[in-house]
Amino acid sequence: MDNIVRRKLVGFIRPLLTLCLILASLLMLQKLKLPEKDEFGHKHVRENMWCGKDCFSLRQGKTQDDLDAQRVSNRTPPEWDAQVLNCTEDSSLRSQDWFRRLDPRFHQFVLHRHCRYFPMLINHPEKCADGEVHLLMVVKSIIEQHDRREAVRKTWGKEQTVDGKKIKTLFLLGTPSAGKDASNLQKLIEYEDMIYGDILQWDFMDTFFNLTLKEINFLKWFDIFCPNVQFIFKGDDDVFVNTRNLLEFISFEVEERKEADLFVGDTIHKAIPIRNRQSKYYIPKELYDKSYPPYVGGGGFLMSAVLARRLFVVSEELELYPIDDVFLGMCLKKLNVAPQMHPGFKTFGITKRRVSKMNNDPCFYKALIVVHKLIAQDLVNMWSVVHNKELICAQRSTI
Ligand SMILES: *[C@@H]1O[C@H](CO)[C@@H](O)[C@H](O)[C@H]1NC(C)=O
Ligand SMILES: *[C@@H]1O[C@H](CO)[C@@H](O)[C@H](O)[C@H]1NC(C)=O
Repeated sequence: MDNIVRRKLVGFIRPLLTLCLILASLLMLQKLKLPEKDEFGHKHVRENMWCGKDCFSLRQGKTQDDLDAQRVSNRTPPEWDAQVLNCTEDSSLRSQDWFRRLDPRFHQFVLHRHCRYFPMLINHPEKCADGEVHLLMVVKSIIEQHDRREAVRKTWGKEQTVDGKKIKTLFLLGTPSAGKDASNLQKLIEYEDMIYGDILQWDFMDTFFNLTLKEINFLKWFDIFCPNVQFIFKGDDDVFVNTRNLLEFISFEVEERKEADLFVGDTIHKAIPIRNRQSKYYIPKELYDKSYPPYVGGGGFLMSAVLARRLFVVSEELELYPIDDVFLGMCLKKLNVAPQMHPGFKTFGITKRRVSKMNNDPCFYKALIVVHKLIAQDLVNMWSVVHNKELICAQRSTI
C-alpha cells in the first residue's frame, strides 16, 4: 500500500521537476539572449542558427542567384554521409569463448564495436566555412552539463578574434544515456543550440565507452567541413584554459615550423591497462593485453589540423578502443608521431592534491595552459581573477 502511494507520488513529482527544469533553463537562456555588444561596441542580436540536416542547403540556397551560381559551379556542398542509424550487434561474437569470459560490462561495447559513424541530429556545416579559422575549440560535453557550457562560452571558449586570428567553438554531444528524460533534454539542447549555434550532436548514447565514437565522428566531421582551420584544441567541459598562453604556444610552434606533427598535452609513457575491476578505466585482459602506446590525457590537448586529418585516415584502420585518449595514442603510433609533453598541460594529477594551495592560486593558472577539473562557477571566477590587470605574480610560479 505504502509503496503504491509512494510510486504515485514519484510519478507525479518527476514530470513536475522536469517542467521546472525546462522553465528555469528557458528563463536563463532568454536572459542571455539579450543584445550584446561585440568587440567594437556595436549592439547586435545573435543570429539564430539552428541547423538540422537541411541546414546547409537552406543557407546555400537562399536566393535564386545563389541557386543559379550553385548550378553553374556544379559543386556539391559537403555533407554528412551517415544518414541512417544502422548499428546492429555482431551476434557471431556471442558464441566465442573469449566473449563468454569477458566482463559483461564490455559486452555492449564489443558487440557494437564495428559501428563507427552515426547520423547527426544537430550539425553546423557553416562553422568553419567562412574563411580561415586559426583555432577551433572543441569541447566534449553531455546534455545535462549546461552550466559548464555556459561557463566555457563566457571564458576560454568565447568566439572572438585575437590579433586577427579567429577562434571558434563547438560542443560535441551524443544523446541522453538510458534512464534520463530523453525527449525533454533533447528539446533543451535544441533550444540552446538555436541561441548559440555551437552544438554538434550525434545519434549515439553519451556513455563513457562511447567517447571514442565522439572522437572519430568528430575527426570525420572535421575532415568534411573544416578545410580552413589551422589548429584544434580539444578538451573537457570542466577544464580551465588560458587562451592567451595557448595562442602564444601556437605561434611559437609555428615559428619553429613544428606544426605539421603537432600533438601536445599531458603525455603518459609506458602506461599499462588498469586491471582493478573497481576502476572506471578497468580493461580486462581479454580485451587488451599489451602496454599502451604514449598517449595524451583527453582533458585538454592541442593538435594541428594537418595532423587531425591524418589521424582520421588511420583511425579507420584501427579497431575501436573503449578509452578515447588511449585510442588516439594508438592512432598516433600508427602514424609514427610521438605526442609532445608540455608541463603547461595539467590534465592528470592536480585533483589528487585537492587541498594543495596551488589549486586556488591565480598565478598558478596564469602560468599554465590547461588545468583539469573545475566546477563551472570556479572556472568563471578564476578566469576573472587571472585576467585582472592588477594581479601581480612573482617571476615564476613553481609547477
Ligand atoms: C546496415 O548494415 C548492415 C551491415 O553493415 C547492412 O547489411 C545493411 O544493409 C544495413 N542496413 C541499412 C538500412 O543500411
Ligand atoms: C553507444 O551508443 C550506441 C547507440 O546509441 C548504443 O547502442 C551502445 O549501446 C552504446 N555503447 C556503449 C558501450 O555504451
